[in-house]
Amino acid sequence: MRLDHIGIAVRSLEAALTPYRLALGLEPEHLEEVPGEQVRTAFFRLGDTHLELLEPMNGGGPIAAFLEKRGAGIHHLAVEVPDIAAAMARARQGGLRLLSEEPRAGAGGSRVCFVHPKDLGGVLLEFVEHPGPGKE
Ligand code: CO
Repeated sequence: MRLDHIGIAVRSLEAALTPYRLALGLEPEHLEEVPGEQVRTAFFRLGDTHLELLEPMNGGGPIAAFLEKRGAGIHHLAVEVPDIAAAMARARQGGLRLLSEEPRAGAGGSRVCFVHPKDLGGVLLEFVEHPGPGKE
């Protein structure tokens, strides 16, 4: 397993990009809208992992709800898994609650699923399976 990214909720991507560029001395690697999650994202590569800035789209969705409740800040940790179905099955068998029954479409053609933060000490954990050879 590898820490794929740390997700950070921001109210405005446009406003957050400049200070992150300055702090990291980097340009974002890519920007992407993920309509299924109602977010617009920017990824900064940090060696083997990334920071993912997340801005709500259209004023709704999970990031808008998080900003409303908790304000801007760290939203989730994401770990790369080779087989998301297997990771979900293992978590489920152990009694962890997943936020979706099936993997959902994430950024970059990935498939993702979140584990309930109440089961992980208040941390929202995301499983990410990246598309690759032999995968759909
Ligand atoms: Co994420």
